[in-house]
Amino acid sequence: MQYRTLGKKQKKVSILGFGTMRLPTRGTEADIDEPTAIQMLRYAIDHGVNYIDSAYTYHGEKSESLTGNALKDGYRQKVYIATKMPVWLVEKKDDFDRFFNNQLSRLQTDHIDFYLLHCLQKNSWPKMKKLGVIKWAEKAQSDGHIGELGFSFHDHYDVFTGIVDSYDWSFCQLQYNIVNEDVQAGTKGLHYAARKGLGIVIMEPLFGGSLANPPPPIKEIWDRAGTKCRPADVAFRWLWDKPEISVVLSGMNNMEQTRQNVESANRSLESWLNKKERAIISEIQKAYRKLSPIPCTKCRYCMPCPSGLDIPVNFELYNNMTIFQGNTLSLCRNLYNTLPESQRAGACKKCKTCEKKCPQQISIVEMLERVHKQFA
Ligand SMILES: NC(=O)c1ccc[n+]([C@@H]2O[C@H](COP(=O)([O-])OP(=O)(O)OC[C@H]3O[C@@H](n4cnc5c(N)ncnc54)[C@H](OP(=O)(O)O)[C@@H]3O)[C@@H](O)[C@H]2O)c1
Repeated sequence: MQYRTLGKKQKKVSILGFGTMRLPTRGTEADIDEPTAIQMLRYAIDHGVNYIDSAYTYHGEKSESLTGNALKDGYRQKVYIATKMPVWLVEKKDDFDRFFNNQLSRLQTDHIDFYLLHCLQKNSWPKMKKLGVIKWAEKAQSDGHIGELGFSFHDHYDVFTGIVDSYDWSFCQLQYNIVNEDVQAGTKGLHYAARKGLGIVIMEPLFGGSLANPPPPIKEIWDRAGTKCRPADVAFRWLWDKPEISVVLSGMNNMEQTRQNVESANRSLESWLNKKERAIISEIQKAYRKLSPIPCTKCRYCMPCPSGLDIPVNFELYNNMTIFQGNTLSLCRNLYNTLPESQRAGACKKCKTCEKKCPQQISIVEMLERVHKQFA
C-alpha cells in the first residue's frame, strides 16, 4: 500500500480509502450484509487501507454501527475513522453534541480522527457558523474527541472558495473523476484547496460505478488500445497521479472489487500512468464528450449569464445522465438539485444573450428547457 500525508498533523493515510456508503445489502439500503461487509473492511485493513469514511446518514443510518462492529478485535487501532455531521439535520446548538455522541457510540470509539461537516453548501455554511459549529468543534478537538476538521462539498466553485477562505480547515472531500473535471469544485477547486494548504480526499472516483462499466463506444476504445488495465483501475490511477490528492475513497460493494482496488493501490508509484494510458484517457474523455447529446465543450464563452445560471454545468449533468444512464440519472438529478436555484436551468429567463456567444451555435435556451424538464 502507498501512503500520503493528510491534514495539519500530517497523518500518514493510505491512498485508497474505504467508503462505507455502498456496502453489500440483502435488499433494502439499511439491511447491510454484515458478515460480508466486515470481511471486506478487514481484508482492506489487513492489506494496508487505514482510512475508513462513513457518515451519520449512510445506509439508513446503519453504516457507522457496521463500521464500529468491523473495527472490533483490534482493528480500530489500525485505522483513521472519518465521519460527518449531517448539517442539514442540525436545527439548534445542542444538536452538535447529540449527533456527535451518537456517532461515537455507533462507532464504538472515543474519538473521530477526521471529522467533516457533511455536504457544506452556500446556505448551510452560514447557518452552521451562526449556530457555533466552529467553537463546538474546536472544543471537541481540545477535549481529544476530534482529530482534524474538514468538510465535504457538492456545491459550486465560487461557494467552495468562500468556504475554504472562511476557516483554517485541515482537509476537504471533493467529488472528482475523469468525467467530472469541471462540475462542483472541479480541477480549479482542487488546485485552490491545495494552494491554501488543505488536504484533499476524493469521493465518487468511478462516478458511482459508471466509469467501471463504460458504454459500447468507450468500451471499443479500451478494446482497441489492447491494455490489460481495467477501466476502474485507470480511473483510480488518473487520480493518484495528482500529488494534491491524499486519499481516493472507493465505495466497494463486494469482495472482488475490494481485492481489485487494493491491488490497484499497491502498484508501483514510479509512474501512475504511462504515456499510452494518458493517451487513452484523453481519447476517452473526448469520446465521452462526443457521446453527449448537447455538443458543449465547456469553453464558457456563453458565460456570464445575466440571470446567474451556470450553463456548462447544467449541460454536463444532462450529458452525463444520457451517456451513463442507469443509476446515474438519480446521481445527476441530485447534483442538479444541489446547485443553487439561481444556477439551475429552470432559472433561465430566455434572454438568449448566451446564444450569440456560443461558438458551437447551440440552441442554449431550448436545451436548458430540456435539462430542466429532465431534472426538476
Ligand atoms: N460526503 C459526501 O457527500 C459523499 C458523497 C458521495 C460519496 N461519499 C463517500 O465517498 C465514497 C466513494 O464514493 P462512491 O462510493 O460513489 O465511489 P465510486 O467509486 O464512484 O462508486 C462506487 C461504485 O463503483 C463500483 N466499483 C467499485 N470498485 C469497482 C471495481 N473494482 N470494478 C467495478 N466496479 C467497481 C461499484 O458499483 P456497482 O455497485 O455498480 O458494482 C461501487 O458501488 C463513498 O462510499 C462515501 O464514503 C461521500
